[in-house]
Amino acid sequence: MQKISIVGAGRVGETTAQILAEEELCREVALYDVREDVPEGVALDIFQTAPFFEFDCRLSGSNDPAILADSDLVVVTAGFPRKPGMSRSDVLAANVKIVDDVTDHIVEHAPNAIILVVSNPVDTLTYRVAQRTGWPRSRVFGQAGVLDASRMAAFIAEETGFSALDITTIVLGGHGDTMVPMPRYCTVNGVPVSTFIPADRLEAIIERTRKGGAEILALRKNSSAYDAPAAAVAAMVDAISNNRRRLMPCVALLEGEYGKHDIAMGVPCILDESGLRKVVELELNERERADFERSSAAVREDIERLASIV
Ligand code: LAC
Repeated sequence: MQKISIVGAGRVGETTAQILAEEELCREVALYDVREDVPEGVALDIFQTAPFFEFDCRLSGSNDPAILADSDLVVVTAGFPRKPGMSRSDVLAANVKIVDDVTDHIVEHAPNAIILVVSNPVDTLTYRVAQRTGWPRSRVFGQAGVLDASRMAAFIAEETGFSALDITTIVLGGHGDTMVPMPRYCTVNGVPVSTFIPADRLEAIIERTRKGGAEILALRKNSSAYDAPAAAVAAMVDAISNNRRRLMPCVALLEGEYGKHDIAMGVPCILDESGLRKVVELELNERERADFERSSAAVREDIERLASIV
């Protein structure tokens, strides 16, 4: 890819920019933020790491949304993070206005871009961006499940003592306390995790995964997680930019898959140069189906709140 823009030069935006540059996932990273001078400062600081990490990617920052011009992909991280004790839904009213403005800038300056939504609550805001742009779902989707799955993998690595490299996990549903970790599909190099972890410990890992974001927030106190979220975004960008056709859980607009319409939530997808190429439909067992329904009801509640916000 030639140009990737990041909206929001906060912690997630900045860390994402650093990884994209280091991994040379594009030639140019542009940072847009409304805070005076901040995006310029972040871009300059990261570009000054180029001699150490040996990258040729150029970085720039601006308060002028025209900096988004001709982006191939725009990562949207702008918005208020939650504070300890808040749920992701508690920032919906504040963030929908920010993301609406951002969406209009993207439509004006980068009408052919792929939009990757990260701002929370990510399911509802992905839905919102899709509605506002009218673009196909292949070009508007969100990041959540890649992060949630990486948390689950880290917990399994910790529990078993095995390499995190060998652990495959998948987490579906909305990015909230009702998310749906899928232990049936979790393996250590193909061997079901249930071979190594007793049922009660696996249940504890599922619960910890659901609250993974809140755990970091409570520990960091003045910040949500950003290292793992940025790495998750970069992994999705890599799949798109290198046309890998990777299967990753993404926040996707559902068009009948899983029996759902008019909602965006986490499902397995194929990512390639076209963006979200395909939603993969899994057969859910009884428990997974019940959990998925509960999660979609929670997302639906937020989507219905959108009407009263604007
Ligand atoms: C998290 C927030 C960023 O899961 O959604 O850490």
